[in-house]
Amino acid sequence: MKMLEVRVAEIIDETPTVKSIRFERVDGQPLGVYQAGAHVDVVGPTAVTRQYSLCSTPDDPDSYTVAVKREEKSRGGSAALHDLQVGDVVQISQPRNLMGVHPEGRHHVLMAAGIGITPMLSMARWMDVHDHSFELHYFARSSEEAAFLPLLQERCPEKLHTHLGLPRTEHRPVLDRALTDLPADSHVYMCGPAGFMDLVREVAEQHVPAEHVHQESFEAAAQPDASENTAFTVEFEGTAYEIPADRSIVDVLQEGGVDVDTSCQEGICGTCIMTVLAGVPDHRDNVLTKAEKEAGEQIAVCVSRAKTPTLTLDYF
Ligand code: FES
Repeated sequence: MKMLEVRVAEIIDETPTVKSIRFERVDGQPLGVYQAGAHVDVVGPTAVTRQYSLCSTPDDPDSYTVAVKREEKSRGGSAALHDLQVGDVVQISQPRNLMGVHPEGRHHVLMAAGIGITPMLSMARWMDVHDHSFELHYFARSSEEAAFLPLLQERCPEKLHTHLGLPRTEHRPVLDRALTDLPADSHVYMCGPAGFMDLVREVAEQHVPAEHVHQESFEAAAQPDASENTAFTVEFEGTAYEIPADRSIVDVLQEGGVDVDTSCQEGICGTCIMTVLAGVPDHRDNVLTKAEKEAGEQIAVCVSRAKTPTLTLDYF
């Protein structure tokens, strides 16, 4: 994957645990506009790659901003980015979009919890400027821990609904009220912890078609017991590759010289997705939508497996 060298142009403490970091290209060229909701891979000083949503104004070509929450159990990803100084150089990928504003939606409901505000911020910024109908529901423990809250209160107070310090038991009725009687052709977008997104999806699908519900996830899906994995065969460009029970498709294909791009290796970024020409995938990722999984035409080969003895794959 082609990476860009970027320099840290600005760092802002958004909350006690969240910093926003603005990047500009080292060579002085513009980065280009991006599609609201996109994310980039960031390779930090410890060479750890992580995915972060872009949260700057999508129409601004000169710089990209990400927001990084310092994770208590950071293995070198978020902690290393929190140690960056203005002027430091890191590498980022081109933006990738797994959750953009649906072009045919007539109303858009953004549901964010905690640091899940980041993709929603770029979508809200873009829809505000381009005059789309939307509302943003922001769940956070407190106003001090709600990154970008002052910005949202200033820019789109009439679209913003904050739910601060709400016990989890009250999430369902709040979601139910927010998602009842939506205008026709409404779309719902969510980002946050897995439990929050499961609940939003469950409630949203009672009010809008499942294909109108979109999510951005930065957590790997819970995996079934690996001891129950079985071996299967992948056919790719006329060659058969045996995938043992304890290895992934991508490991075996790469070992065999097949050029498959990867990034997260956890089924959350979408880099490794391939096309399924025959066979039935056993989806274990958090990147394809429910409808895409049911269609069975794509597979995230870093984590997913097969329900049939053979899968025939092609490049995406
Ligand atoms: S490498 Fe990220 S989804 Fe497979």
